[in-house]
Amino acid sequence: MCGIVGYTGAKAAGELLLGSLELLEHRGYDSVGIACRDSETDEICIQKCVGRVRDLKMVCEANPVHSTCGIGHTRWATHGGVYEKNAHPHQCGKVTIVHNGIVENYRELIEDYNLQGVLRSETDTEVVAALMDVYYEGDAETTIKKVVRKLRGTFALVMMFEDKPGVIYAIRNVSPIVVAKCEDGMMLASDLTALGNFTKEYFVMPEYSILKLEPNTMSIKDMDGNEVEPEMLKLDWKVSELGKNGYPFYMEKEIMEQPNAFYETIKTRIDKGLPNLLGDGVPDSLLTDCKRICIVACGTAMHVGLVTQALVKSVLQMHIDVELASEYMYSDPVIDQDTLVIAVSQSGETVDTLEAVKYAKARGAKCMAVLNVRGSSISRVCDYVLYTEAGPEIAVASTKAYTTQLAVMFMLIAKMAQLRGVMTEEEVKTYIAELQKVPEKMKAILDRRSEIHVIAKEVLESKDLFMIGRGMDYSILLEGSLKLKEVSYIHSEAYASGELKHGPIALITEGIPVVALVTQRKIMSKELSNIKEVKARGANVVLFIKEELGAQLKEDYNVVMLPNLEDKFMVFPAVVALQLLAYYVSSDKGFDVDKPRNLAKVVTVE
Ligand code: M6R
Repeated sequence: MCGIVGYTGAKAAGELLLGSLELLEHRGYDSVGIACRDSETDEICIQKCVGRVRDLKMVCEANPVHSTCGIGHTRWATHGGVYEKNAHPHQCGKVTIVHNGIVENYRELIEDYNLQGVLRSETDTEVVAALMDVYYEGDAETTIKKVVRKLRGTFALVMMFEDKPGVIYAIRNVSPIVVAKCEDGMMLASDLTALGNFTKEYFVMPEYSILKLEPNTMSIKDMDGNEVEPEMLKLDWKVSELGKNGYPFYMEKEIMEQPNAFYETIKTRIDKGLPNLLGDGVPDSLLTDCKRICIVACGTAMHVGLVTQALVKSVLQMHIDVELASEYMYSDPVIDQDTLVIAVSQSGETVDTLEAVKYAKARGAKCMAVLNVRGSSISRVCDYVLYTEAGPEIAVASTKAYTTQLAVMFMLIAKMAQLRGVMTEEEVKTYIAELQKVPEKMKAILDRRSEIHVIAKEVLESKDLFMIGRGMDYSILLEGSLKLKEVSYIHSEAYASGELKHGPIALITEGIPVVALVTQRKIMSKELSNIKEVKARGANVVLFIKEELGAQLKEDYNVVMLPNLEDKFMVFPAVVALQLLAYYVSSDKGFDVDKPRNLAKVVTVE
């Protein structure tokens, strides 16, 4: 959480920092600030405010600073409320700092170093700046080492020292920092979206190394002073992928991109109609030898796990657990060498998922990850990584990450089914052929998005909404419900329809909206009975149903017909329809769809 950027070179720093912070706003957007060294006076000038980058731009336009070196930050508040005094950068004496993460022992440090008198904010970050200033005697690297040895927690710290013009220092533990040499200088940021316009090559800063950026050079040294050679990575996102391409919001653009993102994710993994994971470096033995699977993930990625679980059980008849990554290590999980732990994450930086993988690995599990961002922290702790080809996902509400992660999961299951002999080669080919139809079916529902927009208008004013379904439909609705609540602020709950009579049906009253999903033939009649039960109690039912199952129901319900696929694959058109519903409700309500209240795209604090 929190976006960080730093630049030193020949360009106008203020403009560059503000433009980059705009691209990092999905990491936090309650307040924002920059510190630029004035080229004329050599002073470090801090400009910050509560609100968005656009608000800071006005502040900076009114008081321009000519500078070619600076650091910036967009905040997601942890320690201290959303006030200007808590916005970064923080300055104590000769040290100016921005920070992402949490310094857990900041109270002890205040006491031990008697810092109370110098602090003006409520943040843990200012404590680090104050401590740096206590130790600083002109040698930045020695100071950073001394201070960092005293910190407990996670941090990405980026600093400027008053008497070191043109120089930016950084160090990190867990919280990410990516670095690039650009045409006109050196740049760092907390994620790649800020670098995409400036470079095609970057590296991930190694943990506990000190980075020193100067306009034409950079150096990285470990804590013992040895030079560190970073591993250069290619940035394969096109710059055009970073814009909204004419859509009002990234969320809409990303929903619309799904057929292509799905296609890109599966195309290189199919060979002669069969799944092929050789390019991913996954050995067959990994998939044949494991006795159980455990998926660890958060939020939408965890919902990918739930759909995968339904599929693994029906196709492979294998034991599979899906664990909330944030609960994993506190729940005494069963892990052994026969367990394949699969972490699912768009960003690859979600700290709960990262910690869960480290925990499992330390106990002997084989760890695999399904990720979107190359070089991310989770990629570096896992034994195997399968990448999705979603391209940058900027909207806080995850959409194309979900469908591309599932694309990988469907592939993985096909490969396991083939290797374990639970499907014949012909059956696997039929399964893959059905998977190849998914982009066209997603496109079909996207082409009919105006129908979903009409339904969105009907639920716009609701305070509460329920979603009901059974089996895989229930798993899909958990994602649909999360999407709706996070972007529209409507209280939405997904229930397994069979559970309604055990309590939740007490909440069904006249006119309450209920979204029902029916895509699985074998449980259809039971699902329809449950829908009748809520209808009989006055619910205003909207039915999303697979076309071939719902032909006769058009008269009785407000119906959205979902393009036909074999039942197992219906998750794809169904979730796209639910994403559109959430999107239209939010945009029609006039909300900032891409930046929902209190949320951030990348969750790097526990
Ligand atoms: O980057 P990750 O996939 O690990 O992120 C996990 C969740 O934080 C994320 O899916 C979150 O739930 C989204 N806001 C949902 O739209």
